[in-house]
Amino acid sequence: MKNILCIGAGYVGGPTMAMIAKKCPEYTITVVDINEDRIQKWQSDTLPIYEPDLKPIVEETLNKNLFFSTDVSGNISKADIIFVSVNTPTKTFGIGAGKAADLQYWEKTARQILTHSNSNKIVVEKSTLPVRTAEAMERILNSHDKGVHFEVLSNPEFLAEGTAIRDLMNPDRVLIGGHNSKSGQEAVSELVKIYAHWVSPEKILTTNLWSSELSKLVANAFLSQRISSINAISALCEATEADVEEVSKAIGTDSRIGSKFLNASIGFGGSCFQKDILNMVYLCEYYGLSEVANYWEQVVFMNNYQKQRFVTRMIKSMFNTVVDKKIVILGFAFKANTGDTRESPAIDICKQLLEERASLTISDPKAVKNAKKDLEQFIDQIEFELDPYTAATNAHALAILTEWEEYKSLDYKKIFDTMIKPAFIFDGRNILDHQKLFDIGYNVYAVGKPELSHL
Ligand code: NAD
Ligand code: UDX
Repeated sequence: MKNILCIGAGYVGGPTMAMIAKKCPEYTITVVDINEDRIQKWQSDTLPIYEPDLKPIVEETLNKNLFFSTDVSGNISKADIIFVSVNTPTKTFGIGAGKAADLQYWEKTARQILTHSNSNKIVVEKSTLPVRTAEAMERILNSHDKGVHFEVLSNPEFLAEGTAIRDLMNPDRVLIGGHNSKSGQEAVSELVKIYAHWVSPEKILTTNLWSSELSKLVANAFLSQRISSINAISALCEATEADVEEVSKAIGTDSRIGSKFLNASIGFGGSCFQKDILNMVYLCEYYGLSEVANYWEQVVFMNNYQKQRFVTRMIKSMFNTVVDKKIVILGFAFKANTGDTRESPAIDICKQLLEERASLTISDPKAVKNAKKDLEQFIDQIEFELDPYTAATNAHALAILTEWEEYKSLDYKKIFDTMIKPAFIFDGRNILDHQKLFDIGYNVYAVGKPELSHL
């Protein structure tokens, strides 16, 4: 029986360890965090994060071979394998502020592991980190004479929120980076053995440490680049009366391009894309590769442009003023099926509208609690209403900012009848039947499509 420890009980640590516990009953898995509230919630009826299909897996394994605790040091000493899944946000201070990864939580963890270890350990980087962080980790861990050996591996996580369980259950690949030494390869085999419980061998890729660390940043850079590319084209579509959905389909059928991740939107959000691409930009600058840095930084510029463009189109179409107009925001989470609002494009869009003195009513099935925190400084100008029908009464406009399934089947005629005329709808996710809305009487503005206006 081996003891696995995961430091960090967040969006990655919790679901990942629950899946390992389910698939590997002969391992004991403990997840620790300094956040007591989170640890308490993992053991309660209300998990600290909303993720479809997660609850049954936690219920199945909790207190059998999956445990949650705030005792970081005690659990380090017992562990054979330690996953580190702490947050690595963008640095907000000092050198590299606004781009580089803030490694303070990471480094504190390394020092705690060193202090409380009296036996050999495999330390697995689960967090997303700059390339060659494992080297720094090794230096810290080996700065002792305890006779303990630490082998550091990289095993980045590729799950997406909202589909975390599906992604963990059936990953496109599992990536494991380790040193080429005998102890490095033994450690890699230990980790492969865990995933081999449910992932087929050809999907478990083993590489050197630096390739593994870099591949995670590059995967997120390529994914977000695709979104910025199609969003850039959506601006051209609006100017030329082409339809971005038709263009996406036309290009996506080319098997070299592929059809996934080509949905034009109000811009990408989430805790990873912007942070990881900026982290890579910073690395390029550090290595003197300014042309490469500038190339990738454009992906973030385009994303900001897309959010701002959406707001500008709203204001322009509503006769150049939204002062005191009631605008209903349908969806605040950064994507559907999550309550997470980190870097949600809705934050910037709402802030811009509030600065224009619009009065907002925000609705979201899972993210209202986070929205209240994100928009704290504007709280007097905002109402929160879970029921979209109640929210829409006497509104001038609706803006769909998250692609929640339930927004597709609302009774838009009933809503229209309660709105102030002319009524506007801005579909930031292209999920609605625009012609039908136009026929009801709405003035319809969708991303990358010609406007459908009665005015
Ligand atoms: P999170 O903020 O939800 O969770 C991190 C947790 O680590 C927090 O609960 C925090 O309290 C805890 N923590 C910090 N320092 C600690 C310490 N010294 N001891 C114990 N606990 C400590 O973050 P997340 O979204 O789970 O992301 C974790 C890492 O995984 C990041 O590097 C992120 O880039 C990466 N990642 C995230 C996703 C995602 O979808 N969220 C996907 C892939 C990779
Ligand atoms: C992402 C990566 O997909 C995942 O592999 C990594 O581990 C973590 O970062 P996540 O941010 O959870 O996952 O969700 P994702 O589905 O990638 O969506 C990110 C953002 O892009 C969302 O705001 C989403 O709405 C937006 N998006 C996605 C688009 O605007 N258009 C698309 O076609 C796809």
